[in-house]
Amino acid sequence: MRCCISLLLLLSACDKPAPPPAAARNVRVHLTCDVTGRIEPCGCFSGQYGGLSRTQTVLRAEGKPSLRVDAGDAIAGAEDFHVIQYRHVLKAFADLGFHAINLGRREAALSVETLRSLAKDSPVPLVSANVVDARTLEPVARPWLHAKVDGVTYGILGIVDPRSVGETGLGEGLQLLDPASAITKHLPEMKQGADVLVLLAFAKEDRMKELAAQFFEFQLILGGDVTQPSQEPERANRSLLMATTNQSRALGFFEAQLAANGTLDKPKQKIIFMADNIPQDDGIITHAEAYRAEVRTAKLTIDDPQRVRGDAVPGVRVTAKFTGSESCSACHAEDYAIWQKSGHAHAFDALLYRQSDADPNCIACHTIGFGSESGYRREFAGKRMTHVGCESCHGPGSTHVEQRTLSKEPTFKFRPLAAADCTTCHHGEFSRTFEWDEFWKLIAHGKKK
Ligand code: HEC
Ligand code: HEC
Ligand code: HEC
Ligand code: HEC
Repeated sequence: MRCCISLLLLLSACDKPAPPPAAARNVRVHLTCDVTGRIEPCGCFSGQYGGLSRTQTVLRAEGKPSLRVDAGDAIAGAEDFHVIQYRHVLKAFADLGFHAINLGRREAALSVETLRSLAKDSPVPLVSANVVDARTLEPVARPWLHAKVDGVTYGILGIVDPRSVGETGLGEGLQLLDPASAITKHLPEMKQGADVLVLLAFAKEDRMKELAAQFFEFQLILGGDVTQPSQEPERANRSLLMATTNQSRALGFFEAQLAANGTLDKPKQKIIFMADNIPQDDGIITHAEAYRAEVRTAKLTIDDPQRVRGDAVPGVRVTAKFTGSESCSACHAEDYAIWQKSGHAHAFDALLYRQSDADPNCIACHTIGFGSESGYRREFAGKRMTHVGCESCHGPGSTHVEQRTLSKEPTFKFRPLAAADCTTCHHGEFSRTFEWDEFWKLIAHGKKK
């Protein structure tokens, strides 16, 4: 009998190996920063990187749970249409399974009412411990939160560094608390029950390091206000630092094992580039479409000729007006013919094709004089002042046309142009690398043909 029991025990021991001693838990984090409203890339040339539409494909392919956070600057700017777009960006983040979105420099430029309303409606919690209502000193978003992923509880706290915001960058009705005192205030409560403490810091790298020196509690400090994503995990005091940027073109990934004493062992980090060979996710693209549909019918500040930018500059009176490329054709027939054959003369069609013809994010570079009183306005619905016209480069031409038509001694002279006038549009993600010799020869006209 005894022997039987021991045999049984032996057998069952073979069936079920003893559980390994408390398995190390996996810490996996995906980080975005500086998404700049890019739900999808703009499509200005083929081979473009970027877009949350690609981030989704990457996250799906990895198929493993991770903490997903944004360190700030997901909004593209502080104008009303940027806020409309941001609401759709936040929905895209929800589809991507994000846990928290920090307020960066650009979010901190919004008014207290706008931020409150965004924080109330957002499907992913907005966090910030130091962006507060100037009257009540209460945070406008959640100062911190807990998120449980794959058995690990993360405590996440957000800050934006006042030095990244600058003296004049803060939105109406807001105040910025000193990050260190904001952290000190919330840390004790946030620590309760959390395995890993994460600081989302929209701050420059040296400031991230200073915070690491002040607060050993954070295992991870994620940012930031940087020019390049960080390639290697960087240690500062007892924290690991990682930063990413680049208008949704770079996704940060961090992986480590959580030891029983709370340290992150075998940290690994990589930056995943959202290259053009990564297919875009249709589900995420619906958010870009929803934005375009909404902005098309929205009444925007930029639609109001009394409030457009040209007039907003105090003391500057713009005398010349935009007149349209046709008004140049009679006297500059040869230049006009060259222009007509160029892509510039069809630039608005590209927006129509992409249903982006009412999106102020796109119009300025595909029309004449958008944002000034005599330039393109959305109410023109593509009927005039469209395309990259003569005056998109040479500037408003009414004085020149008047003088050349009526005056015997014209005094007005267009300023000479150079490559820098091309790169106002041909830069960054909006153009293939601009080379004057390559590009100019395709549109060469005037004397310098
Ligand atoms: C900063 C200026 C700028 C902005 C803003 C801009 N574009 Fe462009 N776009 C360009 C330039 C410059 C090109 C030509 C790029 C090249 O030839 O490499 C271009 C080309 C394009 C093309 C390709 C045209 C063709 O026939 O090949 C499309 C489509 C396009 N843009 C769509 C958009 C959309 C949609 C937006 C807004 C989301 C946008 N653009 C915003 C400057 C801009
Ligand atoms: C009534 C005829 C007339 C019209 C209309 C006209 N131009 Fe001119 N333009 C001239 C003449 C004449 C000159 C001087 C000789 C030359 O360079 O061809 C000139 C010169 C220029 C120059 C050289 C720089 C300068 O200021 O002299 C540019 C650039 C130019 N025109 C652009 C334009 C543009 C853009 C338009 C449309 C907005 C336009 N012109 C409309 C007659 C005209
Ligand atoms: C994409 C920008 C761009 C567009 C669009 C453009 N030009 Fe030009 N144009 C230039 C540049 C650059 C030069 C050469 C540098 C200079 O002379 O300032 C030039 C030169 C000229 C000159 C000779 C200037 C001189 O000093 O003699 C004339 C005239 C002229 N353009 C007229 C036109 C007319 C008319 C149109 C529209 C049909 C037009 N351009 C469209 C950029 C442009
Ligand atoms: C106001 C914005 C703007 C400026 C300024 C501008 N471009 Fe462009 N450019 C565009 C856009 C938009 C397109 C895409 C047009 C399309 O194909 O739909 C484009 C396309 C081009 C192309 C490819 C299409 C073709 O015709 O081959 C060349 C080349 C080019 N630009 C040269 C220049 C040069 C050179 C300058 C400066 C002298 C310049 N551009 C200034 C907006 C601009």
